[in-house]
Formats: sequence, C-alpha cells, structure tokens
Amino acid sequence: MSYKVAVVGATGNVGREMLNVLHERQFPASEIIPLASRRSIGQEVTFGDTTLKTKCLDDFDFSSVDIALMSAGGSVSKEWSPKIAAQGCVVIDNSSHYRMDPDVPLIVPEVNADAIAGYTKKNIIANPNCSTAQMVVALKPLHDLATIKRVVVSTYQSVSGSGKAAMDELWSQTRAIFVNDPVEPEVYPKQIAFNVIPHIDVFMDSGDTKEEWKMIVETTKILDPDIKVTATCVRVPVFLSHSESINIEFEKPFDEEEVRECLRTAPGIMLFDKREDGGYITPIEAAGEFATYISRIRRDETVENGLNLWCVSDNLLKGAALNAVQIAESLCSKFLQKG
Ligand SMILES: NC(=O)c1ccc[n+]([C@@H]2O[C@H](COP(=O)([O-])OP(=O)(O)OC[C@H]3O[C@@H](n4cnc5c(N)ncnc54)[C@H](OP(=O)(O)O)[C@@H]3O)[C@@H](O)[C@H]2O)c1
Repeated sequence: MSYKVAVVGATGNVGREMLNVLHERQFPASEIIPLASRRSIGQEVTFGDTTLKTKCLDDFDFSSVDIALMSAGGSVSKEWSPKIAAQGCVVIDNSSHYRMDPDVPLIVPEVNADAIAGYTKKNIIANPNCSTAQMVVALKPLHDLATIKRVVVSTYQSVSGSGKAAMDELWSQTRAIFVNDPVEPEVYPKQIAFNVIPHIDVFMDSGDTKEEWKMIVETTKILDPDIKVTATCVRVPVFLSHSESINIEFEKPFDEEEVRECLRTAPGIMLFDKREDGGYITPIEAAGEFATYISRIRRDETVENGLNLWCVSDNLLKGAALNAVQIAESLCSKFLQKG
C-alpha cells in the first residue's frame, strides 16, 4: 500500500515538520509533493536525506493525489480545500476554517479516531488548534476515569504558533534590546521579547479571544459536548512548545494514584512528575518530541473532585504536523486501501 501525498505550505513552520514526520514515521508514500505560493517555486525543502523542489499550489493538478496535508493558513484553505477535495484527494486541514463544520470531522487520533469515518461528506478532515490537541490528549483518559465536568485552562503559548514571521520577531526584538536598538512590534500588538501577552487571535463580543473560544468549542466537539471549558490564552517569549496549566473538576471521586496510572498508560502521554527541583517538563525539553508531557499532578482541595496538572507539548508536532500525519495513517489503514 502506498499513497501520493501533497504537503501544501511545505515551506512554512508546520509544513516542514510535516515532511519530517512523514519521513520519520515511514509513512507509506509513493511520492511526496511540496507545494507553496508562487514566491517559493523551486525552493528546496528537506525530506529525509533528499531535497525536494517546491511547486506552486495555483498550477497543481490533484487528480492523482490521495492525500493533501494543508498548512497554508485559513484563507488558502477556505479557497483550496473544496477544490482539492472535489478532485478526489482527501484534505487534512490544519487551519481553523473547517474545524466546526458539522460535515467535517475534527480529529485527535488518541481521542476520536473512529470519527474519521465522517470524512466522506466533504472529503475534508480538520486538525484542531495546537492548544486543544495537547489538552484533549491529557483529558481523554481522565474523562474515561472519572467524567470531567469542568476545565479551567491557562496557556503559555510559544511564538512558533504564529508562524515563521513571529519567530523572527522574538529573535530580532531580543537582539535589539541587547544592543539598545528600538523595538518595533509588527506581528504582535506589543513587545514579545521579555514580556507576556494575554491576547491570541481576535477579540470576540464575549471578551474571550478567538483562540480561547477555539479551545472551548473544539474540546466539546472532539471529546464530549457536556464538558464545560473556560480558557485564558497567553503568548510567551518561548520559541517552541506550548504549556498549559489545567484545572479539572470531575463528576466522580478519584484516587490520585489511579489518575497517575491511567495517564502513565494512556496513548501519546509521557508522565514526568517528581515532587522535587526540576521534577517536571518545560517547553525546551518537549521541543522536537512526539509526546504530550504531564507533570505537577495534585489534588485541588478548593472544589469537590478537583485536580491540577501541567501539560507541555511541541505545538508544531502534536499541535499540528504529527497529529495531521497520525490522521493520515488512520485514514489509510481504515479507509483508503490502495495497492
Ligand atoms: N504553528 C502552529 O503551531 C500551528 C498549529 C496548528 C495549526 N497551524 C496552522 O497551520 C497553518 C500554517 O502555519 P505555519 O505556522 O506553518 O505558518 P508559516 O510558517 O507562516 O507558513 C505558511 C505556509 O503557507 C504557505 N502559503 C502562504 N500563502 C500561500 C498561498 N497563497 N498559496 C500557497 N501557499 C501559501 C507559505 O508559502 P510561502 O513560503 O511560499 O509563503 C508557507 O509555506 C496555519 O493555518 C496555522 O493556523 C499552525
């Protein structure tokens, strides 16, 4: 079985990781085609030990392609996903555009792989927001254990979540401060170097930002419509990996050791939790790793059946590229059978 795979947005942060993950997990690909904007025609991208030349999305014919991994932003996805899907190619989309479409499954394979079956309605499968993906990996086994009623999450999100330009902005502002140059915010509304910004994506009428809203609605779509979620999303001057402080209120009483055991054995999770100096995972240690790391597990005595934990994962991997490739793997093994 082998599949022809296009990576749309292959020159970007997520696209490059998609190429790495496809290679590292030995995805059964007969051909990999990197695509981006007209600006990048001929630009070389790395796939394992080889380099591939980027082609232009605008001129590309998808009729012989099996799967398109899309990571070129919401407006490109809005325009191109239906056109690509209409040519018989299954789109796995990283943008937020189709996530809440009732005819598009929103998938984190550790949580709701069976829902992939719904892809036939539009030939599109959505990948969740990076902060949602790692959180639901952590919540799923706990929900099965003691039924989650409410979640309060605060995020500490790295700048790679806003693309290449944002990583450059953190780097150039940091440098500018050291050499006494003026700092000009461009990607973010305020200085990001040596600062934190409690604002990700646009403000909504409720006062929540769209990033906070996404965490709420995506979690209920993926995990359980009855779970109540409230979120505060914060950008921090970290290049890679998102961190989350998660407070959970369960319906049922739980035993702390049972919680640890169920997280220790759950798919996609690495438990690292020692009550001593350095006995937890930080963003730097999660960068480049496939796992979602859980630390700082302890009971919250201020509510009945309350639990606190710390959750860290590489936002370009579990938050984007890895999750998309895992969806492609499940799609191929269960739904697309090709010689
Ligand atoms: N970063 C994350 O943590 C994360 C997590 C989940 C989802 N996502 C989503 O993934 C997408 C990409 O994010 P990113 O961080 O990789 O952004 P990025 O580093 O800015 O890369 C954007 C990519 O899109 C391509 N592109 C832009 N306009 C295009 C067009 N008109 N036609 C074809 N290709 C075009 C760019 O190609 P050129 O180089 O030719 O401009 C580049 O390859 C976004 O939808 C984002 O919301 C990101």
